[in-house]
Amino acid sequence: MGPLTLERMRVFVTGGTGAIGGHAVPALLTAGHAVTALARTPAKAAALRDRGATPVTVSLFDREALTSAFAGHDAVVNLASAIPPMSRFMSARAQRENHRVRTEGSAAVVDAALAAGVGRVVQESVSMLYRDQGDRWIGEDAPVDHFPLTRGNFAAESSAHRFGKEGGGAGVVLRFGWFYGPGAEHSEQMYAQARHHVGMVLGRPDGYVSSIHLADAATAVVAALGAPAGTYNVVDDEPLTKRAYADALARAAGSRLWLRVPGRAAHLFGHRLTSLTRSLRVSNARFREATGWAPRYPSAREGWLATAAALT
Ligand SMILES: NC(=O)c1ccc[n+]([C@@H]2O[C@H](COP(=O)([O-])OP(=O)(O)OC[C@H]3O[C@@H](n4cnc5c(N)ncnc54)[C@H](OP(=O)(O)O)[C@@H]3O)[C@@H](O)[C@H]2O)c1
Repeated sequence: MGPLTLERMRVFVTGGTGAIGGHAVPALLTAGHAVTALARTPAKAAALRDRGATPVTVSLFDREALTSAFAGHDAVVNLASAIPPMSRFMSARAQRENHRVRTEGSAAVVDAALAAGVGRVVQESVSMLYRDQGDRWIGEDAPVDHFPLTRGNFAAESSAHRFGKEGGGAGVVLRFGWFYGPGAEHSEQMYAQARHHVGMVLGRPDGYVSSIHLADAATAVVAALGAPAGTYNVVDDEPLTKRAYADALARAAGSRLWLRVPGRAAHLFGHRLTSLTRSLRVSNARFREATGWAPRYPSAREGWLATAAALT
């Protein structure tokens, strides 16, 4: 099946100024949609306007104001997220804001979308919530794990499904892989480390990591506007082993790795790193089938080469 052709839609994006949003807003505009996006500062509003989107400053937690802001839109895409930077990732305090955005924020977005009569909500989630399956492929019905960092993701997913149940519209959940590319702070840090011969391998080197280049995450957001309600994995075609992923990054950085850290020692951090230490070989088959979407970068090998070209 080829990509679905959609009517021009009016799309409201929250999180449009973040890592995925920075690619998704231009992709939506290029696909011909009209985009309104939440801006928290005048500088971000100006940047959105320069890209061709209409900025609106409104609180993610204010249902009434969100309802007015969403009025007249066909779809709301909720990409708001507050994952702490790598330096503060292990801090429970830093994770609290992310939790609030995903629980209270997503609930307010859905309540407002229902009140405004919006037809579709697309909610960002992550594929790191599946259980370790070794080298077995993971589809959307595979068992998931409930550990502290995923609580917010499950809450956000429930909100999107509630939208479908209560409003008759479509609630679509996108479980993104470990994203990377220009505009993602952690990618830029990992690239700089690789240039200094240090590769990050979290967990067993022969475990799998399922990744997605930000440009492909963005085209998936566009494709999600035509997807039947449901939950979809958004990952590239070929998850790599962690060793192969680190080598792909090093090759793109023109470097050879002398150190691969922290390896199995990452397990000592327990649930705080659980989302990254397991082996997750996630399949995108359902999303490809439902929408005709295909990633431009079939694996992190090609994606990191493109990222390196963009970063240097
Ligand atoms: N997902 C992954 O695979 C992954 C893995 C490891 C690390 N990371 C890193 O984690 C960092 C953060 O990633 P991210 O996806 O959470 O965020 P992000 O790229 O910083 O984008 C988050 C978006 O949500 C918005 N937002 C945050 N809090 C909000 C609030 N209270 N109300 C309204 N909007 C709000 C942000 O607005 P503003 O622009 O106004 O802040 C931004 O538009 C990235 O730099 C990434 O490199 C991501």
